[in-house]
Amino acid sequence: MNSLFRKKSITDLLAQSQQKSLERTMGAMDLTLLGIGAIVGTGIFVLTGVVAAEAAGPALILSFVLSGIACALAAFCYAEFASSVPISGSVYTYTYATLGELFAFLIGWDLMLEYLLATSAVATGWSAYFQSLLAGFGLDLPKAFTSAPGAGKGGLIDLPAVCIIFLITALLSKGIKESTRVNNIMVFVKLAVIIAFIVAGVWYVKPANWTPFVPFGFDGIVTGAATVFFAYIGFDAVATAAEEVKRPQRDVPIGIIASLTVCTALYIIVSLILTGMVPYTKLNVADPVSFALHFVGQNTLAGFVSVGAIAGITTVLLVMMYAQVRISFAMSRDGLLPSVLSSVHPSFKTPFKNTWLTGLVAAAIAGFVDLTTLAHLVNLGTLAAFTLISITVIVLRKTHPTLERAFKVPFVPVFPAISALFCIYLMTSLPAITWTSFIIWIAIGAVIYFVYARKNSKLV
Ligand code: ALA
Repeated sequence: MNSLFRKKSITDLLAQSQQKSLERTMGAMDLTLLGIGAIVGTGIFVLTGVVAAEAAGPALILSFVLSGIACALAAFCYAEFASSVPISGSVYTYTYATLGELFAFLIGWDLMLEYLLATSAVATGWSAYFQSLLAGFGLDLPKAFTSAPGAGKGGLIDLPAVCIIFLITALLSKGIKESTRVNNIMVFVKLAVIIAFIVAGVWYVKPANWTPFVPFGFDGIVTGAATVFFAYIGFDAVATAAEEVKRPQRDVPIGIIASLTVCTALYIIVSLILTGMVPYTKLNVADPVSFALHFVGQNTLAGFVSVGAIAGITTVLLVMMYAQVRISFAMSRDGLLPSVLSSVHPSFKTPFKNTWLTGLVAAAIAGFVDLTTLAHLVNLGTLAAFTLISITVIVLRKTHPTLERAFKVPFVPVFPAISALFCIYLMTSLPAITWTSFIIWIAIGAVIYFVYARKNSKLV
């Protein structure tokens, strides 16, 4: 029984992270840009359309506010962890040190669901903008190759999504390190197109489009919040860079909170302008941001937005896939998953097999499952992780009261408790089919834990 809750020692983890010689080069600004690079993508560029049309209407902005509050609460909890245990591995490692092995395995398994499916979901969004760009040049792909069967658009497979995943897999498997410079340029590009959209779009806003403001009632706003939550995912990736940061205790919390703040502000403005430019009933399209510009006759700018979105979504894809490989790598190194996942390629020095396995599975999913279904599952998985991390903050305060914490969540246990409840509340408004799939995934995880991981764990 005890082995289920065996824990990694925080002192060992800290010592381990200090021995390792990853170069500490990043500061608060780099981390903030890294966060924005990981956050702004398919959520704002694609999901806003369907949420406005089908769930929230012009009250989309309120969905973003609600979801942003849930993320801000969770971000504080992340920040406290990152400031006290600045090691990579994120929630998986934090949980291993606090709640023990079983929970750590399940949360790692849950994070794999999150990042794996997020890779597929983000690729689907990439594909939508790629197609919109091609259409701008009068090129249309055969319908059968443009979307997953479930998307209801007559497609058989989303071929561009599959192709971009293979391209990213090839890059990552050869050891493209997340280069901060490339990331910074991409972040600049995507911020530029979003700001261009805001500045150009504001002149076309017709306040009449905002009435009725809440066509689907309060329930619609909450359902919308549980879906656009996807747009915020990625700030957690900042915590995984902790070992490459000059002053992690100070800079990681700043990076997490600053990137989330910038994105929340942008999302709120974009959703307001989008629903002001186009009647919400018309927004059920795969590329709403450039669609809105076409709608008001700004065709050239719409083309630029598509290019910027494609570039911007690519970095999100890179980070999601990298995170997936990193989590499964860490779990395999701890003996909880088969060792092939942590084998390192002799010349590329990357987890080559793990990367390709991830790429193949993600590509298969992206080809055949539609974006909304994927996003719902990703959100459920992530909200579950956020709930657990909020609880873990309370546990860690009790078990390690003297641990040095450069950043502290205020009003513990009230604040993290509200965070957990808020996440659970959003989870309850996701569809039943999402819950069923999620429960099956976790059940498979539990079986793997008892049949394999528990016996092969390297922790004694
Ligand atoms: N937040 C990321 C996106 O919207 C996952 O693409």
